Amino acid sequence: MDVFEAILRRRDVRNEFSGERIDEERLVRILGAAHSAPSVGNTQPWDFVVVQDPDTLARFAAHVGECREDFARSLPPDRRDTFNPIVIEGIESSRTGVVVTYDPTRGGTHILGRHTIDETGRLSVALAIQNLWLAATAEGIGVGWVSFYQEPFLRALVDVPEHVHIVAWLCVGPVTALQTVPDLERFGWRERRPLAEAMHRERYPDGDVGSHR
Ligand SMILES: Cc1cc2nc3c(=O)[nH]c(=O)nc-3n(C[C@H](O)[C@H](O)[C@H](O)COP(=O)(O)O)c2cc1C
Repeated sequence: MDVFEAILRRRDVRNEFSGERIDEERLVRILGAAHSAPSVGNTQPWDFVVVQDPDTLARFAAHVGECREDFARSLPPDRRDTFNPIVIEGIESSRTGVVVTYDPTRGGTHILGRHTIDETGRLSVALAIQNLWLAATAEGIGVGWVSFYQEPFLRALVDVPEHVHIVAWLCVGPVTALQTVPDLERFGWRERRPLAEAMHRERYPDGDVGSHR
């Protein structure tokens, strides 16, 4: 699969996990792709905690279920009706969670390139996640990003020290198929923007570029 094909085929997976567990060799290959990402000052500030204990997966899924309920309750009735049928995680069905963390202390105090933009550390971790996601797609493995959690809960669940930030829980596992249209679009939550709306020349445009729609 070439890189454009992987980019276009990649999906956020919730429903399509087959229930098998990813084999170790593939998992390490995919994490190797993540670990090859660019990073500010070459700090490689990420770590990957692989979670496969069914009890831990069940406890996290229960917590995410509560966070989902909180979000549903915060919605006006029409949006709640649209949201309700949307599955937002495959924590147990994927059989593997990867907790991706960001350690801002890695690399010491003089980080080349982060002295002006502190955010570049966390952005480096996002690039590692994207590498992981594309490599998984090329391997026929699904990935779903879960952010419906309270950080202190997940920190305690997998023993992440206080100075380390948690960036994501990724559900990683074999899939029966990948959807061609994102779930949030299929279920009428939000559509993809056309490139023409996002691409500008020379200056950021005046007026509405669709940020609040
Ligand atoms: C930072 C981030 C957090 C996300 N959190 C969740 C989440 O908690 N639950 C979920 O179902 N999808 C989550 N997603 C997936 C997005 O909903 C998904 O990427 C988007 O709808 C586009 O679909 P696609 O990835 O299939 O193209 C997250 C994606 C990103 C990049």
